[in-house]
Amino acid sequence: MEKILAIASDHAGYALKVQIKKHLDDKGIRYIDFGTNDTASCHYPDFAHKLCEAIQKGECDKGILVCGTGIGMSMVANKHSGIRAACCSDTFSTHATRQHNDANVLCMGERVVGPGLACDMVDLFLNTEFEGGRHATRVEMVMSYDK
Ligand code: RB5
Repeated sequence: MEKILAIASDHAGYALKVQIKKHLDDKGIRYIDFGTNDTASCHYPDFAHKLCEAIQKGECDKGILVCGTGIGMSMVANKHSGIRAACCSDTFSTHATRQHNDANVLCMGERVVGPGLACDMVDLFLNTEFEGGRHATRVEMVMSYDK
């Protein structure tokens, strides 16, 4: 079954989210947008929570969260069981967090990264496989804290 990407932002990440959605549309990548829907001030935990719930329910397999810095979103996301969120602002870390951490949520900041870099990061996040092996042991150790 094809899994759908989840995407969400707060007001401070809204404009970058729009640009990322255009990039996804151009590539024919399906996604569900969990809000927010404009630049009116709102609370990033609400949107991180909605996106993480969709992953926990299996409606989506990966997610992208955008706020001003990416940090608040990643803090909230990592409170959710089964979520491995990485706050990234460069392509090397984005690639490595898929290979080594099996990150299932990518967080970024509109006030930190430009749209070109953000879209390159999205491509790496979606197209880089988890390496498994020794990294699987470590990811299992991380996930043991869910219990
Ligand atoms: C909103 O001003 C800002 O605090 C939020 O988008 C985010 O950067 C929090 O981590």
